[in-house]
Amino acid sequence: MASKKSHDSARKSSLRPAQALRFRIDPTGELRAAVSASSGEFNLTPEIIELLCLLQKGSQPSELEGRLRTRFRKITEDLPDSREISALLQDLEDAQCLVRAGVQEAAHGLQDGFGDAWIQWAMLADAPRCQAYQKAIQDAVGANSHVLDVGAGSGLLSLYALESGAGKVDAIEETAVAKSLKQLRENLSEGLRKRLQIHNCNSFDARIPSTVTHVVSELFGNDPLQEGVVPTLRNIFARIDNKQAVGIPESCSIFVQLVDVVDGPLHSRLSRYAGKMAATEKQWSGAVEKIRNTLDFHDVSFAHMIRPGDVKKCAAAKKAFSIPLAPPPSDSTSRPAASFKIDIEQKIEAPALLIGFRAHLTHAMSISNIPGEKDACEHWSPLVVPLNRALTSKEIIQIKVSVGEHWERVTAIASDAQGKHLGARE
Ligand SMILES: C[S@@+](CC[C@H](N)C(=O)[O-])C[C@H]1O[C@@H](n2cnc3c(N)ncnc32)[C@H](O)[C@@H]1O
Repeated sequence: MASKKSHDSARKSSLRPAQALRFRIDPTGELRAAVSASSGEFNLTPEIIELLCLLQKGSQPSELEGRLRTRFRKITEDLPDSREISALLQDLEDAQCLVRAGVQEAAHGLQDGFGDAWIQWAMLADAPRCQAYQKAIQDAVGANSHVLDVGAGSGLLSLYALESGAGKVDAIEETAVAKSLKQLRENLSEGLRKRLQIHNCNSFDARIPSTVTHVVSELFGNDPLQEGVVPTLRNIFARIDNKQAVGIPESCSIFVQLVDVVDGPLHSRLSRYAGKMAATEKQWSGAVEKIRNTLDFHDVSFAHMIRPGDVKKCAAAKKAFSIPLAPPPSDSTSRPAASFKIDIEQKIEAPALLIGFRAHLTHAMSISNIPGEKDACEHWSPLVVPLNRALTSKEIIQIKVSVGEHWERVTAIASDAQGKHLGARE
């Protein structure tokens, strides 16, 4: 618990925009900002942008109102006054968009997404995932190790590192779940407690200890890139002095597989999407067909649980590419891409492309979201890209897989031999 004195000195320390703050222009032209892939986005008005720019240039709260009035001379009546500016700064600080120099503790962790106990539990109850991480950490970590747990969540990987004898563990977690992480630390024996340090902030704004020997993390979503694993680990490795630091995971491979969805909750949805309506359905399906033609299905993909019996594999799973994670490629490295042709051998009534990943924790230990694989974990699902028509035997389809801008999304496009669009995740 921070003492009142340290809290007061934190309030006096200078405010600056978080290193983690990222901006994007949405399709309607609005400027949006977020601090992490798992937290929500918010709109930026010109006044907030100006406040952020002034803080970035070193202005501090007491000067902001005057500077804002000089900057927006012509519209002075609508500008926030000092009370409103304080409230805005507080909101931005609570959302971890603003941080205080030298302070490693956000006043509150981010409440959304991973701040939710049940989301953390879904990961803790995933036996294959936990066992694989425990083994990988046990094999790599020992008494001379200083482990950095990036995105520590409820503290699982930090505990595995301590159990493996790590001399020091630094756990970084940005959301409110850091509160239970602190409780976990309190519950440890004194010897272990001393070895665990908690940073409740975004990793871009955390101080990285100079003696780190191991970086452990699990920053994968159903789309393995959606939680920002590449930019986050790129930033961590760039700031680690020890260029020999070991990373768990080492890399992540992307797979695609063409399947016929023959059973399960997706079967009727996908077979009707591909054009198969039964004669008995004619009465109600006329209206459905009319509506279907007005809907924009160009870019449809979703994560869905697939039991091995729900699909018939129409071709072997193909590895598209592998992305190193210890360290990840720089932002200027060209993004990986792969292209495949698949010969269709038999009619496929409800075709879908499954996009899956396999994370290599070490060279000997992996986890995946690929249905039916030995290393498949329980809480992830593959991404499903439904194809918009049934495929006939002897036709050839083309699949292109790549990585989206900023390395935060896997993309895929399927087309037929005439170049006609079949489905996409863009
Ligand atoms: C998939 S969960 C894994 C949690 C835990 N390591 C485990 O294996 O059970 C990822 C966690 O990383 C946190 N996180 C993601 N990006 C982060 C960042 N850049 N800085 C700090 N925490 C981050 C999320 O809030 C979430 O709790």
